[in-house]
Amino acid sequence: MRRLLPVPFARFPVFLRDITAQYGNVVAFALPWRSYVFINEPALVKEILVTQQHAFSKSLGTRVLRLLLGQGLLTSEDPLHRQMRRIVQPAFHRERIAEYAAIMERDALDFADTLKAGETFDAHAAMRALTLRIATETLFGSDESYSAHFVGDALRLMMGEFPWMLTPIGSLRSRLPFRKTRRFWKARATLDSIIFDLIARRQKDAIARTDALSLLLNARDAEAGHRPSDEQIRDEIMTLFIAGHETTANALTWALVLLAQNPEVDERAATAVRDGDREYVTRIVKEVLRLYPPAWIIGRETLRGVTLNGVVAIPAGTTVFFAPMMLHRRRDFFPDPDRFDPDRWLGPEPPQFAYVPFGGGARRCIGEDFALTEIAIVLKALLLRFRFELLDAATIRTAPLVTLRPAGPVSIKGIVRSKVSTEEQIRAVTIGEPAVIDDRIKLVEYDPEWPRTFEREAARIRGVLGYRALRVEHTGSTAVPGLVAKPIVDVLLEVRDSSDEAQYVPALESTGYVLHVREPNWHQHRLFKRPDVEINLHVFSRACAEVQRMLLFRDRLRADPGDHELYARSKQALAQRRWKYVQNYADAKGQVIEAILARARTDSVQR
Ligand code: HEM
Repeated sequence: MRRLLPVPFARFPVFLRDITAQYGNVVAFALPWRSYVFINEPALVKEILVTQQHAFSKSLGTRVLRLLLGQGLLTSEDPLHRQMRRIVQPAFHRERIAEYAAIMERDALDFADTLKAGETFDAHAAMRALTLRIATETLFGSDESYSAHFVGDALRLMMGEFPWMLTPIGSLRSRLPFRKTRRFWKARATLDSIIFDLIARRQKDAIARTDALSLLLNARDAEAGHRPSDEQIRDEIMTLFIAGHETTANALTWALVLLAQNPEVDERAATAVRDGDREYVTRIVKEVLRLYPPAWIIGRETLRGVTLNGVVAIPAGTTVFFAPMMLHRRRDFFPDPDRFDPDRWLGPEPPQFAYVPFGGGARRCIGEDFALTEIAIVLKALLLRFRFELLDAATIRTAPLVTLRPAGPVSIKGIVRSKVSTEEQIRAVTIGEPAVIDDRIKLVEYDPEWPRTFEREAARIRGVLGYRALRVEHTGSTAVPGLVAKPIVDVLLEVRDSSDEAQYVPALESTGYVLHVREPNWHQHRLFKRPDVEINLHVFSRACAEVQRMLLFRDRLRADPGDHELYARSKQALAQRRWKYVQNYADAKGQVIEAILARARTDSVQR
């Protein structure tokens, strides 16, 4: 049976490279049961995707995807495809993407918070989990990540079946009671029940929501007045769910690998993110998708005999395919093609259809803007805080299956980048003028008055906010007995949602607090000061990871004399330098703080 397996997928890119080197950019070959034409020429790709698209249907490979995705956008044919594309499209309009972006950003920052400095993790698994969470929250409007396990399982089993399904016995095999096929059908059935259950729940409240599922449930096709069946909605949602997270997770994983391998690009990217320069990250994403296009191969089947560009005659029933992965590395369009060089996109654009990570024509990826937004947001959140080191760069290989995944885990570790806030950033978040120090920082010995100041202020805050003050804590150096500190008492206030200022700002202002800093991009942090007391009041939302970090740090310094001593020394050394803004001094302490936090986390896990 193994000998029947004709497509050694892992070796397929090498095979394609060899045949084009030997026979040119249009190669026909045949297996006993099927004829193939491989195209590596942009003008002919345009013929397939656009000019003569109606002469093609989706290829054989799509049939295996149908096992999991049914008749969703990726796998259906006209007229169903045209009708459903009209119905699904509004879920990807610009204003929707802007709404999704807020969710993406929150999830990305949460993920960055959970990364422990210096600890090794599998980037591919982490990116899959993150993109799955984003997909569930944007598409379903709730965190259904308990289903992640089933999605991952069904996807893996389906991809395993893929090479088999391209053989004449493929479709028979998927019905036979092999252990793997049984597991596949079981995972698919579980997924179905999760999605049908969600459809039933959403049907009750769809009008009020803006997630993709609710939009679909409310949709009526403008032309046909048609309301999709529950089965059709299931297929569309499953398609968006799988197409929407698997590809993006791969792109993000390759981005981290490439950034780790190219420190000079990484450094520039971090500076660009800090300075709010979006262009460089956009070029990075474009270049990642050039070198590692997640949809690395795209196929069609001829419905009738066609002649491409008047020269390449192809009979009916032929599988015609091209590989973005090969087109994107054509030397004549992309000089030094294997080099990761985001700046190549500053030069002249390659010819039309030489760069096709999202395909083209009527079947072009519907999630392109969604994906580009998500990749950029996740990269920015990570780049701000970490640079990445690959543990075993030599062993990272591609696994070209349905998508271009890495073969095996990608072991990587995040090294904390010392944060440096630019003047522009400080000005952007400060209300009024930021106070300039332009001097050394004055540290003083611990003063037992500080906890008393805290108690007094905490009572005042609870007094005006009542139940809206979920938690009030003394944090920072003045909360650690015996530690030298700037004589400013840090108070942490947790509210339900710190972006909802109406809930607490007027009340705090009525008692003399003045809103000083508003940081929507950093945990929706708000900072208040008082004219009469040396105090920094930090406001965060409930369950914000930054709150956990501040408390963990304070408790570690209270409990561990070694870290207490280390922190005091590092503060004293840094305080000797000249700082323009106090934030610059705070940023400089980032690395020692992360090291102490890493030890605190390890100890709390071991205990
Ligand atoms: C980096 C990420 C992504 C890449 C590289 C990618 C690539 C592609 C490509 C090449 C196609 C066309 C396939 C063909 O012509 O046979 C496609 C189609 C599709 N993609 Fe994406 N995609 C990505 C992300 C997404 C996201 C985030 C979603 C949804 C949330 C999505 C949903 C779809 C759907 C539904 C189709 C079928 C469109 C149709 O035929 O009407 N994709 N994608």
